[in-house]
Amino acid sequence: MRKPLIAGNWKMYKTHLEAMRLVQGLAHELAEHDFDAVEVVVCPPFTSLRTIQTLIDSDRYSFGLGAQNVHVEKEGAFTGEISAPMLKALDVDYVILGHSERRELFGETDEGVNAKVKVCWANDMTPIVCCGETEAERETAQTETKVERQIRGAFKNVTPELARKTVVAYEPIWAIGSGKTATPQDAQTTIAFIRGVLEDEYDTGVAQEMRILYGGSVKSGNAASLMSQPDIDGGLVGGASLEAAELAAIVKAVK
Ligand code: 13P
Repeated sequence: MRKPLIAGNWKMYKTHLEAMRLVQGLAHELAEHDFDAVEVVVCPPFTSLRTIQTLIDSDRYSFGLGAQNVHVEKEGAFTGEISAPMLKALDVDYVILGHSERRELFGETDEGVNAKVKVCWANDMTPIVCCGETEAERETAQTETKVERQIRGAFKNVTPELARKTVVAYEPIWAIGSGKTATPQDAQTTIAFIRGVLEDEYDTGVAQEMRILYGGSVKSGNAASLMSQPDIDGGLVGGASLEAAELAAIVKAVK
């Protein structure tokens, strides 16, 4: 059984003070939540990681903590970058890798994502590997080719032992922040395809253990129908994760 995961990707939103209020609000909303049944992770900007780590520790919150990127080197003259040991020292559990915004705006490549997957595991943090097609790729029936290339690239020379614990997020780019969601059936079809690629890359056991999330305009209103699909193991939530009640409602929609 794969444990469902709802991860909030806060992108470049919230100061550390706002982040603190959001996490406290979320804790209030989820006071009765069974975190063993559905895992909840928040991925704030780097500037809020320390604040939230402190809150999680002092108030014994059961949220996981995620970062949105990492550099592959452990230290050095890389102005503006953050290393994996720095994140690990803040008790970061997850790192989002290869988000389409990083690929499109910051030139992230499949090779780069692959290197970061290995660096995350070398520092005992779980990668959340993102993939997804553009609207033009979807319209020209290239969705499968695109996500297959991204998945095979990200997992190149990653051992089955590490792959089985790695999280994948399928985020069709046209659905991100657009209010357009993939239908539950379309999301299920592509995610089942991704699981098939992982099965081919590894084996059935590994592919069946891996959690694959859907991302792209997930809201409280559509969460239940998406999350009830057999291959969808949770959500990577952007805009709707910036409001405590809305994110909590998504978590509660997962059965
Ligand atoms: P939205 O939920 O705002 O569409 O963003 C999805 C996303 O990019 C999460 O990583």
